[in-house]
Amino acid sequence: MPINNFREDEQSKEVVKMVTIKRLFSYMKDYKKDVLIVLAFMVVIIGISIINPILIMIAIDKYIRNNDYKGLVIIGSIAMVNNIIAYVLVKKRIIIMSRVSNEILMKIRQELYQHIQQLSFNFFDNRPVGKILARVIGDVNSLKVILTNSVITLIPDFATIIVVMIIMFSLNAKLALVGLCLLPVLILGMYFVEVRAHKRWQIVRKKNSNINAFTHEDFSGIRVVQSFAAEKQTSNTFRQLLSEHQASFFSAVKLNNLFWPMVEISWGIGTALVFMLGVDMRETGEISVGLLVAFISYIGMFWRPIVNLSNFYNQLITNLAGAERIFEILDTKPDIKDIEQAMIMPNILGNVEFNHVTFGYVPNTHVLENVSFKIQKGETIALVGPTGAGKTTIVNLLSRFYDINEGSILVDGMNIKDVTIESLRQQMGIMTQDTFLFSGTIKDNIRYGKLDATDDEIIEAAKAVHAHEFILKLENGYDSKVNERGTKLSVGQRQLIAFARTLLSKPKILILDEATSSIDTHTERLVQKGITALLKNRTSFVIAHRLSTIQKADRIFVVDKGGIIEQGNHEQLLEFKGIYYNLYMAQFKAIS
Ligand SMILES: Nc1ncnc2c1ncn2[C@@H]1O[C@H](COP(=O)(O)OP(=O)(O)O)[C@@H](O)[C@H]1O
Ligand SMILES: [Mg+2]
Repeated sequence: MPINNFREDEQSKEVVKMVTIKRLFSYMKDYKKDVLIVLAFMVVIIGISIINPILIMIAIDKYIRNNDYKGLVIIGSIAMVNNIIAYVLVKKRIIIMSRVSNEILMKIRQELYQHIQQLSFNFFDNRPVGKILARVIGDVNSLKVILTNSVITLIPDFATIIVVMIIMFSLNAKLALVGLCLLPVLILGMYFVEVRAHKRWQIVRKKNSNINAFTHEDFSGIRVVQSFAAEKQTSNTFRQLLSEHQASFFSAVKLNNLFWPMVEISWGIGTALVFMLGVDMRETGEISVGLLVAFISYIGMFWRPIVNLSNFYNQLITNLAGAERIFEILDTKPDIKDIEQAMIMPNILGNVEFNHVTFGYVPNTHVLENVSFKIQKGETIALVGPTGAGKTTIVNLLSRFYDINEGSILVDGMNIKDVTIESLRQQMGIMTQDTFLFSGTIKDNIRYGKLDATDDEIIEAAKAVHAHEFILKLENGYDSKVNERGTKLSVGQRQLIAFARTLLSKPKILILDEATSSIDTHTERLVQKGITALLKNRTSFVIAHRLSTIQKADRIFVVDKGGIIEQGNHEQLLEFKGIYYNLYMAQFKAIS
């Protein structure tokens, strides 16, 4: 597999966007009470940790000096109670935040799922399923990291730094200045490292998503991989992607590891300077021993959160990218949507009309150009033509999976744009070559065509398409599971089930897009009756390769070069001696 396919979006930019953060936190507004509690806890926790050095100061200056054991015991007890309270609150805070962020996550997942489900074909055309999965699973998890960590880490750490700084300056401004003198240098250094580290982490993330995309595609296409005996090659590609990820990871980590020493050095130098100056000041009586000791511990309290914050920044960037991707999807409007005054389409008869329809999947390239035709209810139309001619496109447009650029499509005289998509598609039955069965029983899968169908209706539909016989032969009959180990169905059998499903939905307009092409001739003869049953009393579009299916159509459209270039029934078209005639002769010769 060409490895470059998995490197498509390595160039994208990542920046911290306040809008994204704001939007993310807007989900917290239902949890105001919890957040307030957590913030209140935070105030208490910070208060307690701030008091501790003061207690030590008092202990040294007042009680140890005067050998006051009683005083020491009191101070010690206060410190102990303080610490127990702080410990309990820290734990509680984590529990509350985990609950809140989990609930928000659930909400976003649901929102995302519902939203993706109603997006148009166009959205799915442009995205591999693996990437969509990554959004719903992986990216949502990254939101959790932001939500929890920012409340548990970011805000408290920030508050601690500010409060400690104020205390240090109010205790002794001179010592404070000395102790923090390297802060500007550190901030500058951090900035330089951060800019570079950020770029490298960005690469790590891209490499990681390459691995995900590749794995997904490789396993989805495992049959192709194995049948071409390409396992060795794909393994090599995979190894290469892994080692690229590894290399980028190390190069990022190397930079990040510069942080610790930088902070430690600033911290160490600050402490040493405070000691040196403090001892002098103590000798001149400017400060007490207790204050010096308290000061040293405040310096520690100041520098430690700085390390946390610098780590958090990177985490934030990583996870914000995830948040942005999620919001991007949530903001994707379905291309195909109901107009404001969309009507519910009444039960239709099945007259179809294309009026000067022009359409292209991408701007400026038309797949169909000025196509017009009229079909009476109950007619069976066969579409033939070379691959890529636009047969599938025509039926996709009728189901309004895409909107046309020019012209109009009418069903029973109503423009399909004026009615709700739901009411339009409910009256259509679409079967394509790749039948999709959901995991569940055969019965469930047939019932999908009409959710409130009785078992009898299901069996009746199965009988009509001649699926009943083979279903009965299965060990569990209609309750046999599909898409799981156990019952393995052939492609043809799966297709028969899909036929029953479609028949059950009693569509007024039926579309069979190469629906029988994976059925062998023998089975096809078997389902031919089923198909005939399917076609009866409804307008049908049949796209098929086999002339046997085509011949019976009321009219045959030959699609090519952006339009319908020949039409008529089988005999008429043979007489016409055009493209259809040639197609027919070629296949006829091939068979005989
Ligand atoms: N989702 C799509 N996005 C872009 N181009 C498409 C898409 N589907 C089909 N096409 C293009 O439109 C043309 C008609 O395709 P299609 O209607 O599927 O042909 P047919 O069914 O006759 O084989 C082809 O050139 C094809 O490449
Ligand atoms: Mg097609």
